[in-house]
Amino acid sequence: MNEELGRLSQYESFADEFMDHAVDGFYNAHYDRPACLGLLGDVAGKRVLDAACGPGLYAGQLVQASASVVGFDQSARMVALARERVPSAEFRMHDLADPLDWLADSSFDLALCALALEYVDDRVGALRELRRVLEPNGALVISRQHPTADWLRHGGSYFDSRIIEETWSKGWHLRYWLTPLQQTCEEVFRAGFLIERLIEPQPAREAARLNPAEYELLQQAPGFLAMRLVPRP
Ligand SMILES: C[S@@+](CC[C@H](N)C(=O)[O-])C[C@H]1O[C@@H](n2cnc3c(N)ncnc32)[C@H](O)[C@@H]1O
Repeated sequence: MNEELGRLSQYESFADEFMDHAVDGFYNAHYDRPACLGLLGDVAGKRVLDAACGPGLYAGQLVQASASVVGFDQSARMVALARERVPSAEFRMHDLADPLDWLADSSFDLALCALALEYVDDRVGALRELRRVLEPNGALVISRQHPTADWLRHGGSYFDSRIIEETWSKGWHLRYWLTPLQQTCEEVFRAGFLIERLIEPQPAREAARLNPAEYELLQQAPGFLAMRLVPRP
């Protein structure tokens, strides 16, 4: 996959498959979503921006919890699926690489960017925009693949920040950044955030029935991590 293709939507061709997989899939429904929703806290009555919203699985839960949600994604098909799933939320196509010039400063109480920042080259720029549209007392929750899990899989130097291109078991070809934890911490700091909480989640207990082997593995080794970030004064 070349650079230009990296900027086009990687998920477009398998958006439907992603939705079918993530709606009740182990890593999304029972590992990432409980972690991020826990970090977001009580969203009732809050304005929440769902950045890289995918097919609206988060948005659906947020709206159910009485939040008002605006979501965006680089993939047109993801946006269509999200609109279908959550008609009461607002969705549009947008690339995290571009300024959020359609959103006013301080227009959200909370923002979420789950499992997507690693696809973006200029993460500091994207995070700065998310900070700009957040209330000064707001918070951004992000999640990513755990850097040690990536590193154990790919080898080489843990500290070597690099682009990985790989084909996952479902045949999805993806290009993403493998970066050490320190770099993620620096990037969020440079974008104007402080880390309020960092968690290395463990899967929800009921997920053991779904996939005992993955459950056992994630009891011992981290797969993802999640952070709650607050704007620094
Ligand atoms: C692993 S999925 C996560 C979707 C959703 N956040 C969730 O957790 O259910 C990654 C999503 O990020 C989106 N994405 C990747 N790069 C993006 C970019 N540069 N701008 C906006 N969305 C992007 C993809 O289209 C895809 O929907």
